[in-house]
Amino acid sequence: MRDSANTRILDAGEASAIEQAAAKIREGGVVAFPTETVYGLGADTFNKEAVCRIYEIKKRPSFDPLIVHVCSPDEAIRLWCEIPSVALTLMKKFWPGPLTLVLPKNPSVPDLVTAGLGTVAVRMPKNPVALELIRKSGTPIAAPSANRFGGVSPTTAQAVYEDLKDGPDFILDGGPAVIGLESTVLKIEKNLGVLLRPGGVAVEELENFLRVRTASRSAKMPESPGQLKSHYATQTPLCLLDRPLGHTLDELEKFRGGRPAGRYPRIGLLSFGSPTDPDGLFHAAEELSAKKSLREAAAKLFQVMRKLDKMGLDLILATPVPERGIGLAIMDRLRKASSINNLMGFLSGWK
Ligand code: TXA
Ligand code: MG
Repeated sequence: MRDSANTRILDAGEASAIEQAAAKIREGGVVAFPTETVYGLGADTFNKEAVCRIYEIKKRPSFDPLIVHVCSPDEAIRLWCEIPSVALTLMKKFWPGPLTLVLPKNPSVPDLVTAGLGTVAVRMPKNPVALELIRKSGTPIAAPSANRFGGVSPTTAQAVYEDLKDGPDFILDGGPAVIGLESTVLKIEKNLGVLLRPGGVAVEELENFLRVRTASRSAKMPESPGQLKSHYATQTPLCLLDRPLGHTLDELEKFRGGRPAGRYPRIGLLSFGSPTDPDGLFHAAEELSAKKSLREAAAKLFQVMRKLDKMGLDLILATPVPERGIGLAIMDRLRKASSINNLMGFLSGWK
């Protein structure tokens, strides 16, 4: 990975790298930085021009609000204007960590950051580089995931570079993200939690502290503007299977038998556990976790999606994972990435 004309890559392990990045944030620049979930594309929350640049670099529509990253609960409290006691409890329990809380905003938070909503999403990340960057910047950092809008979130500095090259002033390289998919976004209404996006903190864990309902997906008034269907998408068409692979292997075998030789699509398998492919039906196969650990699968998901996406495949076939714990977030991302409902219909139309 090399610097491009407008973007410098800084190794977070090197002396003064974080200070340099913080100085850039203070002077109104845009810096991609590591968090424990995915890399973020950050700017000073109170600098409207800098925040504007984030939307431009990502090509993100301005109706989709950003998460503000803080380095302490006190800093978060200054961004909100109403804080129910259950929010304080959740902050104590889950911060620093992959939980974003949405509460009514303090008027000082620019509308551009919240896309005009009366609430602001805030989280305190667990990554030490992120925390030091925020602390040294002296301001909360507004940051979406550091990918092009609608694409797969980056879990390495390399992935940020591939997506955004000439966009940010700096990319602060802090190694691969340990959780690998985004934070859980929870809006708090009185004492009820509204799950806007499943993520790094499992809903089951939140339910120890408050009742949680899932946000409505009304097309007219989505409760979370960023939860569009086509998010997290690979360029290659992706099909999430709704049942184990066995049946599909038979169908693919039959399909291949009815095609002229050499006219079978290049299919990549994204498998939860160890892949099975006795008949050589797949051009490539990647497993998320041989031991079927959901944590390990989450950490590898976006990396594997990006890898398969670069192989020039005709189709990516993904197997489902159990929908418990962080598995709910994995399935949410796979469903949003999945553009094909009817696999055999897609294949029969394939040229
Ligand atoms: O783990 C993460 O959350 C990463 C890292 C960088 O912190 N950030 C991230 O940001 O995933 P982004 O912008 O890609 O996703 C933020 C989500 C979007 O779906 C957005 O619509 C929602 O949070 N959101 C932000 N502010 C909101 C608000 N005030 N009300 C409802 N939804 C909000
Ligand atoms: Mg994102």
